[in-house]
Amino acid sequence: MAETEAAKVYITRELPSAALDPLREMATVRVWPGELPPPPDVLLAEAADADALLTLLTDRIDARIMAAAPRLRAISNMAVGYDNIDVQEASRRAILVTNTPGILTKTTADFAFALLLAAARRVVEADRYTREGRWKTWGPQILLGQDIHDATLGVMGLGGVGLEVAKRGRGFGMRVLYYDKTRKPKEERRYRLAYAEPKELLAESDFISLHVPLTAETHHLIGERELSLMKPTAVLVNTARGTIVDQRALWRFLKERRIAAAAIDVSEQEPIAPDDPLLGLDNIIITPHIASASVATRLAMAKMAVDNLLAAMRGEVPPHCVNREAVRRWRQSLPR
Ligand code: GLV
Repeated sequence: MAETEAAKVYITRELPSAALDPLREMATVRVWPGELPPPPDVLLAEAADADALLTLLTDRIDARIMAAAPRLRAISNMAVGYDNIDVQEASRRAILVTNTPGILTKTTADFAFALLLAAARRVVEADRYTREGRWKTWGPQILLGQDIHDATLGVMGLGGVGLEVAKRGRGFGMRVLYYDKTRKPKEERRYRLAYAEPKELLAESDFISLHVPLTAETHHLIGERELSLMKPTAVLVNTARGTIVDQRALWRFLKERRIAAAAIDVSEQEPIAPDDPLLGLDNIIITPHIASASVATRLAMAKMAVDNLLAAMRGEVPPHCVNREAVRRWRQSLPR
């Protein structure tokens, strides 16, 4: 992408000006002002003369959009995941795609642990109980939950977030089991984690936290069979992707109290449908995909997404390019 006055960037949501200002100095920037994502026809029209897009995981950037955008050279996604973008098609068209990895790892782990604590000790239910005027006395039997200290935490997927959750578990005096496709002896020794095959992890853990990426293999990784291996007192936490869990099966197990509780930040359909049966249960906490939503991290993500675009506009390969296979043809496609 040439550094010319003509460079046009379309941004699909308002972002902090601290992040956008450097971009405004280099390009004509248009920003979709709505709280909800731009409708597909708006996105299509805006992409038509854009040199670059800055998108969120709610914006579907498919072959149709790319076909309508002959000048498009870079798509910067403000998320670590980029399953909303047809990366193969982008590579075919010599368009670079970037993401924002690393900076959200600890923030996401903090939130996974917040969900774990809240579900274990029934914090959301207890707040509701108080507001509904049901707090009449100190009751020896009311709102009893599960202890966290000395309990066993099972971490499925020991990538960046999984490891941070495991460390938090150790800090709370938990025994920590993990499963990952690749065994991690260094982390095992350093943080005193124990490797377990999935079956053993599901059967032995009091808390199970999911940290695998969404792939064809991990779709419905937790279904009927896996839930039936869990203890009746188990608590399931999902901050990864909704379709990793079979939501119908989860509903049944929670309703029949075959597991104690769950806390999910992601759901199979986002936003979750208002008539989804999970919303009728009191032993599940459901939050709106906010695990990375701290003030500092969201600003850092916006700045990283902008830095990726600025590099592309200078004709440099952006630091967090996810389709390096497209770089050679991308370079050739830049104006000389
Ligand atoms: C959030 O889910 C992300 O992928 O950044």
